[in-house]
Amino acid sequence: MLKNRQITLASHAHGVPQVDNFSMIETPVPTPGAGQFLIRNLYFSLEPAIRGWLEGKANYFEPIPLGGVVRGPSVGRVIESNNPDYAVGDIVFALNQWEDYSICNADTILLEKLQPQDDTPLSWYVGPLGGSGTTAYVGLHEIGHIKAGQTVVVSAAAGATGSMVGQIAKQRGCRVIGIVGSDAKAQMLVDDFGFDGAINYNTCTDITAAVMAQAPDGVDIYFDNVGGPILNAMLLTMKVQGRIVCCGMISDYNRTENPNPITNLWEVVARQLTMQGFLLFTYHDQVPAAQAQLAEWITSGKIKVLEHITKGIANTPAAFCELMSGKTTGKALVQLDLPEEQ
Ligand SMILES: NC(=O)c1ccc[n+]([C@@H]2O[C@H](COP(=O)([O-])OP(=O)(O)OC[C@H]3O[C@@H](n4cnc5c(N)ncnc54)[C@H](OP(=O)(O)O)[C@@H]3O)[C@@H](O)[C@H]2O)c1
Repeated sequence: MLKNRQITLASHAHGVPQVDNFSMIETPVPTPGAGQFLIRNLYFSLEPAIRGWLEGKANYFEPIPLGGVVRGPSVGRVIESNNPDYAVGDIVFALNQWEDYSICNADTILLEKLQPQDDTPLSWYVGPLGGSGTTAYVGLHEIGHIKAGQTVVVSAAAGATGSMVGQIAKQRGCRVIGIVGSDAKAQMLVDDFGFDGAINYNTCTDITAAVMAQAPDGVDIYFDNVGGPILNAMLLTMKVQGRIVCCGMISDYNRTENPNPITNLWEVVARQLTMQGFLLFTYHDQVPAAQAQLAEWITSGKIKVLEHITKGIANTPAAFCELMSGKTTGKALVQLDLPEEQ
């Protein structure tokens, strides 16, 4: 009989999550009820947001209870269905759990039936054509109101979201500077991803000065993935009526003490900035159009895809800890092993 391997939360994470915060259990594969369908998960999207659900505190979703299966987005194939809208063989994206098999219904959060093209790897639907690429696209357009000729700065720029932000901004005719945590990542942005400049925040003593050296007229859009000291420094680089797209604050996710203080908030008034947070699921209706444009850019070679793929469900905790330690570039994801390999 097939078993459902599930990754559960064994202990709350404090600081950078550790492999022993997680356990793997085996349970029977669930049977879909009325209106439900069963999917075989193929890829897990590893996302820093999951870190916020691991320490027992309310976030924008309920915290995952101790012993509960870890929640996370996945791409899977429908293998059994009691729902006329989802046929066996359909490929779906949804916020599921870290497990081989998940039960879905029409109300499953982020549920989307995918129309994968033959020449498109399914893994891209958790990364550049999935939450990372569409977050970058929606953030730049809906929140940033990006226009050609502007200067865009993005943090965590070599990551899943940041590498897409920079490349999309280049497609829109902008000057792009990335902020990253190593020289190797900075080099990669310029050499491989077409960024105009890059800054390593770990060796740079004055981020404001470093950005102003590369963008003397100031910054139109700062796409903030990290918050903390980098956001604080970026507030001093913004043009009047510039826009700060608040996508995430990863510099605070692993902190055990209070969040990093932001002392330069007066600049929001003085420079008449718009600083707006957003969560992709609020803009879910815009995802198909974003995906279509991203697919065109990727298939025509204008945007490059970089994936950090870990194989095997049992390695999911280690892969997630790697992501949260800044050791990955591009989209971090897990490719599940097939049932016959169990
Ligand atoms: N709003 C939304 O709907 C939405 C959707 C998806 C993602 N997000 C957010 O977008 C951000 C990026 O997510 P992702 O999935 O694309 O992850 P990612 O960028 O692929 O990986 C995270 C990166 O963050 C950087 N980082 C970690 N700690 C940092 C620190 N203290 N200061 C500065 N940078 C740090 C690391 O790169 P370095 O080596 O360069 O430091 C690390 O590689 C996260 O904040 C996430 O929560 C938001």
